[in-house]
Amino acid sequence: MTVLLDPQSLAIRPLLDGIQGNILKSHGRHHTANIFIRCYDGQQTSAKAWLKSLVEGEDAIIQSGYAQLRTNVLWKEERVDTGLFACIHISAAGYDYLFGSNKRALFDDVAFQNGMKQSPLNDPAPETWDSGLAVDNHFMLLLAHANPESLTESIHTIVQPIESFAEITALEKGDALLNKEKAGIEHFGYVDGISQPLFFTDEWETYVKNNNIKDEADIRFDPRAAKELVLVQDPFLPNDSNALGSYFVFRKLEQNVKGFKLAEENLAAELGLEGEDKERAGAMLVGRFEDGTPVELSDEAGLINSAVLNNFDYNLIEGSKCPFHGHIRKTNPRSSMPAGSGGMEEAKKHSMARRGIPFGKRTDDPNDGHISNKPEGCVGLLFMSYQNSITTQFELIQSQWANNQRFPHTTSGHINHDGIDSIIGQALAQSPDEQNPRGDGAYAAEWGNSLTQQRASFAQFVHLKGGEYFFAPSMSFLKRIDKL
Ligand code: HEM
Repeated sequence: MTVLLDPQSLAIRPLLDGIQGNILKSHGRHHTANIFIRCYDGQQTSAKAWLKSLVEGEDAIIQSGYAQLRTNVLWKEERVDTGLFACIHISAAGYDYLFGSNKRALFDDVAFQNGMKQSPLNDPAPETWDSGLAVDNHFMLLLAHANPESLTESIHTIVQPIESFAEITALEKGDALLNKEKAGIEHFGYVDGISQPLFFTDEWETYVKNNNIKDEADIRFDPRAAKELVLVQDPFLPNDSNALGSYFVFRKLEQNVKGFKLAEENLAAELGLEGEDKERAGAMLVGRFEDGTPVELSDEAGLINSAVLNNFDYNLIEGSKCPFHGHIRKTNPRSSMPAGSGGMEEAKKHSMARRGIPFGKRTDDPNDGHISNKPEGCVGLLFMSYQNSITTQFELIQSQWANNQRFPHTTSGHINHDGIDSIIGQALAQSPDEQNPRGDGAYAAEWGNSLTQQRASFAQFVHLKGGEYFFAPSMSFLKRIDKL
């Protein structure tokens, strides 16, 4: 049985003091800035001094996991604005820069060592990325605040000392987007961030309450996770049991909202969906209705507690409610992971702590039901995640599941019911000028009736503008960096 961390217990303090915040629990602030940094040649001493100053001295801004937990509680229960949150991430190129060539070899994760540009994800070529994200950045400093003006002020103060030893290559700002019910949504209008691995006892208690779980027999999906799902030994301090870090993925994913909304409408027409049932077209692409209601549980939106419901599994052999290629089913197959491949327990080993936030300004209401006023670009998701291994978590999900017609559900070779992920699947273009290779899959015209399943295709409306793999080092690494 998974042992969860009790936030009230003093025994977990050394663990939480030793890691950076945001890994085990989201910082929760609604306004963020990702600052990408590439150091000038020969500035290693200054770069190390700056990294150390983030955790020691009067300008220290990084919060340990423990300090962050405390501020989260103050904010949630007392509404005390506890100010700036910060955490630092270092790329393989960054470790080589700081400590000499090929220091990246100290890390076990091959995907991290290789970096995102070398990854087998069918990504667009780096030459097409935003220029500041296409260079080999060394560090990424994440800042977050509840108040956007205070965040802007902090950015100005924090950036100044960096400019003496490094170039700020990119500054990506994120702002939470809320629907009318104050739930966080992404730009296509769907509630996001519902399904997460849970590491703390209080999170599990909330899950039990939200999902109306009365006893063990009611549990259909158990998101409890051990800290090892996202934490690994900091390779620079192999003998310090509280020196733990986490592998981190950043992807700037642009969303063509107008294109997606039009295609949703066309899909509904192709399947002959009428009236309220038209909403099911989008729900089959995502796996949830806009309000979060899982389409596997209901043929319409509006379930009580929809924005937090997560206690469900899938019919093993059918995709007549949630299609096999629906985004949340591809990225977490739950019980529909074949037993021969390890079933639900295997599926859970690949999950990540997702920490994404939308980017780009909207002048329209994302859920107003209109299409003509929707943006076609310059908005999207700053996808971020923490994990124990990029190779077996993020990269496996994107390359072997989302981009793959068959996996994870099919092991037998018959591909009748599968397709690439409807939201993030990246098929290989058939020709160099093909911009949006289409994926196709089976959709049920009538909810839950497999006899009404028909194949339809859907284009790609999410495009990568750049990204990188990083490591969030331990607090001790940052404190002792000048002696390592
Ligand atoms: C613009 C890009 C993306 C959009 C619009 C998007 C949207 C969503 C939405 C609306 C949900 C449902 C809310 C929830 O269950 O938490 C979700 C869940 C999820 N997404 Fe994404 N997502 C995007 C990118 C990604 C990427 C790149 C990955 C990883 C490769 C990913 C992995 C997941 C996972 C693991 C879940 C939870 C599935 C579950 O446990 O049921 N997403 N996403």
